[in-house]
Amino acid sequence: MTESASSTPEPPTPTPLVVARDVRKTFLHEGNEVEVLKGVDLQVDAGEMVSVVGRSGAGKSTLLHLLGTLDLPTSGSITYLGQDVTRLDAAGLAAFRNQTLGFVFQFHHLLPEFDALENVMMPGLVRGLRRRALKGRAQALLEEVGLGHRLAHRPGELSGGEQQRVALARALVMEPRLVLADEPTGNLDTATSEAIHRLFFQLNDRRGTTFLIVTHNPDLAGRMPRVVRMRDGRVEEDERRGAAPAPPRSEDDATATETDPATPETEASAANEAPATGVEAAG
Ligand SMILES: Nc1ncnc2c1ncn2[C@@H]1O[C@H](COP(=O)(O)OP(=O)(O)O)[C@@H](O)[C@H]1O
Ligand SMILES: [Mg+2]
Repeated sequence: MTESASSTPEPPTPTPLVVARDVRKTFLHEGNEVEVLKGVDLQVDAGEMVSVVGRSGAGKSTLLHLLGTLDLPTSGSITYLGQDVTRLDAAGLAAFRNQTLGFVFQFHHLLPEFDALENVMMPGLVRGLRRRALKGRAQALLEEVGLGHRLAHRPGELSGGEQQRVALARALVMEPRLVLADEPTGNLDTATSEAIHRLFFQLNDRRGTTFLIVTHNPDLAGRMPRVVRMRDGRVEEDERRGAAPAPPRSEDDATATETDPATPETEASAANEAPATGVEAAG
């Protein structure tokens, strides 16, 4: 009698979403070249939750900018699903960002003349999506970040933390494959930070959204299944902890499921030629 090997299915092969190879970045500072990234190799697979930690000045934000195609490496390559994005032209880059990336950076650049709801809808409007479908999604996201009561407020009528949450909802509204976040909850209170971290894990769980999050929050870093530690322009340590401990459940998870926004309909042609939008809240 032979045991059939086929009874144990192979685990699915992870798909590399983004691969950085020997990425270097040199800035010119007061006439001197300063090498800020000294050869970073990093692969992030689709569906991973990765945090990037390390002291101030280690190069975390610089790396995130390069991965976000907001700046070019001095040398090395960055490929998304096999495509080298350092070779795309401006229009190609803009379309790529709009379709693939969500940015949650410290400087969020909300549009002052639009209210919170419109700001969140903006990336979709720019891409030519239907207003009605977008509105529902935008509202659901704003509710998830605790701003259901601030939909009609303009940025000037919101606190800094509230503005940051609007920017977060805006970064998520297109359901990007990869969310690049630079200290996304850095200056929010504990309860709000908790809610946003929970949202990250929910999106990862439900939609397979990949997250790369620079954080000083020990609570969040401790919950991430993979932690990349940077030091002096290099990846010093890349720790995988296996299965992530489940994020704490809360009563509002049920609500979140109900309001889970449906994928908006794309209006035929617009999707491939979208200009860069408010999604890139880069600092
Ligand atoms: N545009 C720039 N010009 C010159 N130096 C820069 C520039 N951006 C960042 N740096 C320097 O690069 C180093 C790494 O910065 P950064 O990536 O912001 O680190 P981190 O996010 O880990 O605190 C710092 O020493 C910083 O001063
Ligand atoms: Mg930084």
